[in-house]
Amino acid sequence: MKDFLFYAPTEVQFGKQSEELVAQLVKKYGGTKVLLHYGGQSAKRSGLLDKVCGLLKEAGVEYVELGGVVPNPRLSKVKEGIALCRELGVDFILAVGGGSVIDSSKAIAYGVPYEGDVWDFYVGKAEAETCLPVATVLTIPAAGSEMSEASVITNEDGDIKLGYSNNISRPKFAIMNPERTFTLPAYQTAAGVTDIMLHTMERYFNPDCDMTVTDAIAEALMRTMMDSVFAVLENPEDYRNRAQIMWAGSLAHNDVTGNRLNGDWATHQIEHELSAMFDVTHGAGLAVVWPSWARYVMKENVSRFVRFAVNVTGVENDFTDPEGTALKGIEAMKRFYRAIGMPTTIRELIGRDITEEEIKEMASKCTRGDKIAHGRFKKLKAADIEEIYRMAR
Ligand code: NZQ
Ligand code: ZN
Repeated sequence: MKDFLFYAPTEVQFGKQSEELVAQLVKKYGGTKVLLHYGGQSAKRSGLLDKVCGLLKEAGVEYVELGGVVPNPRLSKVKEGIALCRELGVDFILAVGGGSVIDSSKAIAYGVPYEGDVWDFYVGKAEAETCLPVATVLTIPAAGSEMSEASVITNEDGDIKLGYSNNISRPKFAIMNPERTFTLPAYQTAAGVTDIMLHTMERYFNPDCDMTVTDAIAEALMRTMMDSVFAVLENPEDYRNRAQIMWAGSLAHNDVTGNRLNGDWATHQIEHELSAMFDVTHGAGLAVVWPSWARYVMKENVSRFVRFAVNVTGVENDFTDPEGTALKGIEAMKRFYRAIGMPTTIRELIGRDITEEEIKEMASKCTRGDKIAHGRFKKLKAADIEEIYRMAR
């Protein structure tokens, strides 16, 4: 096992009624004037937003609201948030929502004390030295942003979706009440589980395969997701399984199975171009990309794919044909995606055939004009990424 750093400082309050603690926690982490950041309709419709407002008021914590964050959150909303926070002297950002709202909150948090353009961080021009504290009341288990150091923002000017990672933005606290996820539509539930599994798979398919203990955790997490998702699709108010999924979402991305050493992340990079160009749901895009990525890179380490096939998807090991076993595991994942209502081709994802020009443009943007490669399991240049898009057509 290699040396590693594990850093997961977020205080998690998990369970029914956990949002009752929101005002107390804001105060504990120093918030006196809060930006309450949220998305479209769901948090309003469910009454969660009113509840949080009521609790803050009761506790005498001042707040200002900024809603309207869309999935694949936009830079323009981030800039609106930065201006508002500066004008009103906001010192704490509370994200009520999912990955998009949390990521938008983190970007605002970086931007408020920074004199330059917040996009500098995302294009690698600058490193944030400080940011406002961020915390969340989570409403969808998927992105794992509630414990992660990442924030992914789309710049509408050029449809560029980029991530920026910095430990200083890890949320101070995350309130997770699985009951708040009962209202999730089936598609978002399935896309969320796909994303949770992919955060585990990105770390599982790495060149250093000696993390026996974290491999075992990863496999258990993935198998649990493959059971629990069917239970909640059948009964959206199944607390037990909603809770498994919600906690798995954090464990999948707080690096407990990665230890910051490993990770491939090519599937994510390749998907981010699809959501930047076509504004599709991140998890659904991952379901489309992963099987093609897997077939493209499999020969780099067939035994890893055999282990995944047997231990995660339950395929029988044909010792005389490792490649056949590995391929059966990839096919099993594809069947799983279909069974939970996820697309498995770009055509299904965007509703039409993708053009060769679009494929080339996405591969070029993904590699910044073929200047950088992605993936650690196998290094992928623009030509490789184009081929993966073609295989996923
Ligand atoms: O906007 P509202 O009306 O709230 O609706 C949202 C949105 O349409 C809805 N929703 C959320 N909670 C709900 C609900 N609907 C009913 N009931 C509820 N309780 O779900 C939709 C999707 O929300 P979003 O926040 O976009 O989902 P998710 O958490 O999957 O976040 C996706 C974003 O996170 C990024 C993705 O790229 C994407 O932009 N990621 C962030 C990461 C990170 N920061 O660490 C890592 C991930 O790999 C990912 O890239
Ligand atoms: Zn993801």
